[in-house]
Amino acid sequence: MKYRVAIVGATGAVGQELLQVLAQRKFPIRSLRLLASERSAGKTLAFEGEQVSVETLRPDSFEGIDIAFFSAGGARSQQYAPLAVQAGAVVIDNSSAFRMHPDVPLVIPEINPDAVRGHRGVIANPNCSTIIMLMALEPLRRLARIRRIVVSTYQAASGAGAQAMQELLDATRAYLQGEPFEPRVLPHPYAFNLFSHNSAIGEDGYNEEERKMILETRKIWDDSAIAVSPTCVRVPVLRAHTESIVAELETRPPLATIVDAYRRFPGVALVDDVARNHFPMPLEATGRDEVLVGRIRYDAGTPNGVALLACGDQLRKGAALNAVQIAELL
Ligand code: A2P
Repeated sequence: MKYRVAIVGATGAVGQELLQVLAQRKFPIRSLRLLASERSAGKTLAFEGEQVSVETLRPDSFEGIDIAFFSAGGARSQQYAPLAVQAGAVVIDNSSAFRMHPDVPLVIPEINPDAVRGHRGVIANPNCSTIIMLMALEPLRRLARIRRIVVSTYQAASGAGAQAMQELLDATRAYLQGEPFEPRVLPHPYAFNLFSHNSAIGEDGYNEEERKMILETRKIWDDSAIAVSPTCVRVPVLRAHTESIVAELETRPPLATIVDAYRRFPGVALVDDVARNHFPMPLEATGRDEVLVGRIRYDAGTPNGVALLACGDQLRKGAALNAVQIAELL
């Protein structure tokens, strides 16, 4: 069977990556409809050697579509995903619009594939930092229950979209040329700088990105007791997020068993060369499907604690790849 596929936000950073992942994985496509804002009308995008026209997103864009990938921000998902479902499509949504809705499965195929079964038209793709963290912890979680996670992120520009990636390049160029640069997308100077994640801070002192990591972890693991302590930071890297993670386990398996579990787990690649001080890095995670994991050690400050460093391509496993894997599950 071949599917009629639509991509909402096809011109964006995740949309572009979706095109690549669909082609690389030879997703069975009968027809492809590329949707974006009016600004993109008239543009064409390459798919498998052919130029496909970008159409303006409209309420009737989903007639005859089987699978619609949404990656154009929460407002577009809120407005158009119900219309796509009405038209008979299954929506795989990259925004946070429906993630915590009880009727909407929140799925990482390596972790909770069975959750897709209960869908009612919309399946949510988790937040990129959540996906990378939970992929990096899944081999451990299969060895012992995880009680608590302390995580600090080093997040790339790509999570804020294609314009933020361009801003990092432009700001860096201006800095090196000694020219002034006024930030357009992000709230602070981005070249040779880092800052607390650019999402709003709530009354509890956590920003939205951190709250997503807390709530989505509970939902994906189906564990309302899991304690997550996140701090999210934006760093001047183009497209792979790094995370420093400490997990407190109920029991402490031998280190060799832990490392072996990482070696075997699909979707994770062990990069843990102590002799060469070679561990997960964004430049090496870029373009890769696997989440890289290394620096695996017993944590010095936590009973039954394991510490590690993880790095995953935010646009691939953090977004487009995970979404296409969900479509493959269907
Ligand atoms: P466009 O390129 O026409 O603005 P990113 O996350 O990289 O910023 O990409 C956002 C994606 O969402 C782009 O494809 C963008 O299209 C699309 N988008 C933004 N606003 C709208 C809108 N009002 N209607 C349809 N698509 C939109």
